[in-house]
Amino acid sequence: MAIPDTRYRWPARLLHWSMAALLLATIPAGIVMLQDGLDRTTQNALFIFHKNVGVLLFILILVRLAYRWRHRPAPLPDDLPGWQRTAARLSHGALYAFLLVMPIAGYVRVKAGGFPIETLDALGVPSLVPRSDALAEAAKTVHATGGLAVAGLVVLHISAAAYHGLVRRDGVFSRMWPPFGGRSGSGSGPPGLTSDGGSGS
Ligand code: HEM
Ligand code: HEM
Repeated sequence: MAIPDTRYRWPARLLHWSMAALLLATIPAGIVMLQDGLDRTTQNALFIFHKNVGVLLFILILVRLAYRWRHRPAPLPDDLPGWQRTAARLSHGALYAFLLVMPIAGYVRVKAGGFPIETLDALGVPSLVPRSDALAEAAKTVHATGGLAVAGLVVLHISAAAYHGLVRRDGVFSRMWPPFGGRSGSGSGPPGLTSDGGSGS
């Protein structure tokens, strides 16, 4: 009897890894661009990169959530302890929530502060918030606090992925690997032997 393939479908994996790469570039850019003593040209380039990649991340998270809603992931392995299931559910939920909140807070901080968002401005998208220093300040606080939370969650998440891939070797890592290619997802075809000891599960 064929063992079900519990890997994420390729669009989910492609979205996961492209967003991971963009996020791992956006967070350091956001921190470095605020450092004192940075020359103006570098600072401007980092601001432009950070704001516009942030907008792209917002679009990608909407696509990803819509895709996930239509294609639910397969259940985790049966022998995974209950607390680890709960931790996975909560931390993934928190990552999704912060990936929605962060670009919105960034957008409000910039637009309420009266600054440009180059791609949206070039497309003629009007500001969705009024010009207000108080609003910009509030959004700045949310964005800075959220940035710390996202960074912490990402460290926790990568540690958990390494624990599954290197210690438990239970196939959870290969649910999300490789970033593209492979079969289209759960329930189809025979399983292949995967890098962290999983048989496609
Ligand atoms: C997932 C998306 C995003 C993440 C994870 C993120 C993360 C960060 C982080 C970590 C900082 C440094 C905060 C600090 O040290 O105070 C920052 C600053 C900043 N971000 Fe983002 N950001 C995102 C999206 C955006 C977007 C979409 C915009 C605007 C369109 C934006 C605009 C800014 C601005 C203007 C600052 C400087 C804030 C200040 O004035 O102190 N960010 N961001
Ligand atoms: C850096 C930004 C990252 C973010 C925001 C992120 C976010 C997420 C989210 C939200 C999920 C849950 C998918 C779902 O069920 O809908 C997930 C799954 C997963 N991520 Fe990440 N991820 C990141 C980076 C990484 C990295 C660097 C690794 C590996 C080293 C990794 C490995 C995994 C694995 C193995 C899963 C599947 C877990 C399962 O089967 O339930 N992620 N990621």
